Amino acid sequence: MQHHSSDWEPRYARRAARMSGSEIRELLKLLEQPDVISFAGGIPDPALFPEAEARAAGAEIMADPKRARSALQYAVSEGDPGLRSWIAAHMTGLGVPCDSDNILVTSGSQQALDFLGRMLLMPGDTTLVRWPTYLGALQAFNAYEPRYDRLDPEGANIDAAGYAAAARDGDPTRAVKFAYTVPDFANPTGATMTLGAREKTLGLADALDIAVIEDAAYTALRYEGKPVPSIMAIDVARSGDVNASRVIYCGTFSKTLSPGLRVGWICASKALISRLVLVKQASDLNSPPLNQMIIHRLAETVFDAKVEEARGEYRRRRDLMLAALERHMPAGVSWTKPEGGLFIWVSFPDSVDTKALLERSVAEAKVAFVPGRAFHADGSGGNTARFSFSLASAAQIDTGIMALAPLISQDAQPIS
Ligand SMILES: Cc1ncc(COP(=O)(O)O)c(C=O)c1O
Repeated sequence: MQHHSSDWEPRYARRAARMSGSEIRELLKLLEQPDVISFAGGIPDPALFPEAEARAAGAEIMADPKRARSALQYAVSEGDPGLRSWIAAHMTGLGVPCDSDNILVTSGSQQALDFLGRMLLMPGDTTLVRWPTYLGALQAFNAYEPRYDRLDPEGANIDAAGYAAAARDGDPTRAVKFAYTVPDFANPTGATMTLGAREKTLGLADALDIAVIEDAAYTALRYEGKPVPSIMAIDVARSGDVNASRVIYCGTFSKTLSPGLRVGWICASKALISRLVLVKQASDLNSPPLNQMIIHRLAETVFDAKVEEARGEYRRRRDLMLAALERHMPAGVSWTKPEGGLFIWVSFPDSVDTKALLERSVAEAKVAFVPGRAFHADGSGGNTARFSFSLASAAQIDTGIMALAPLISQDAQPIS
């Protein structure tokens, strides 16, 4: 059959079928109207960026001819040596004693997720994820054609043999390859895994002999309660050696310093890092050295102060949103009370479809949020939604939740 040269569909690889445009992105286009109060985007508040410090750091680097040339040149794939060593010290402070050889700098932790999918997944392999989980992780992994099963360490049944049999599904070459989780203040739920749930996840990984990908994107943003050791710290404490760990830790500066500079990292055993360096080389050779140098400078000078400031500001907004939900939401609606991060997860009565609710909400109440279905690998969760408090002002938070509430009462009416 003759195809017109603009008909691209027949030319795509099979994996492209799983890279469908997100229906959420389509819905979020509606939000470009300036009068809509948005609880949808999960992005950091730009008012918290270390803008003056980044400007000064960039100018200082570019004013020094030697550093300017390094900043403008190709660079080693592993990442800026000074930055890697700062990250290794940071990880050591988080209970994971390690050195620079355990660190690969990535272009955000999103690139880390892509690389790990590439390194670990064969088509048909299973990855264990939370239900719901970070949408960007599903998008990154989908390119490698995995299947998903539910990681539920808070549930009663953590049956390794059952997971393995389901993954094989009659084909002995298929296996469970890793478990992926965001243990602190998850996107989208805001939930934090207990120490027990972390230990159970490790126990399951031991029984299946698989890796655990620990996505620590929000870990620094804790507003209350005591930090829980990372899954990697728990694992390293057992063996005494990061190089013996089955955990792969993905960190990022996106939520603390700047998402635009695109600097994140993987902390893992030396053996895995040295293989991942080859993936980095093949993918983009290196992350931009100027960005890494700026992040290194900011990390050394303002990291703690900026994290403190962000915590105070987001804590205040979280409290306002929790209070507004309490004040305005009708009976039958429940929500998480996150100890940190940027998100509250709201569950509506079963009769509410949050995608339809969003359409009405944008049109009638001028309020936006993200419907929950997209975060579920199995397409469930139609009555749930993610609300972010990261960008809204105090007045918008109360006004927005108040405007939304009457729509829910109407939506929740049983259809007679
Ligand atoms: C849980 C989680 N992981 C990873 C990322 C990716 O962030 P970045 O690539 O900017 O580090 C995000 C961004 O929203 C996230 O929410």
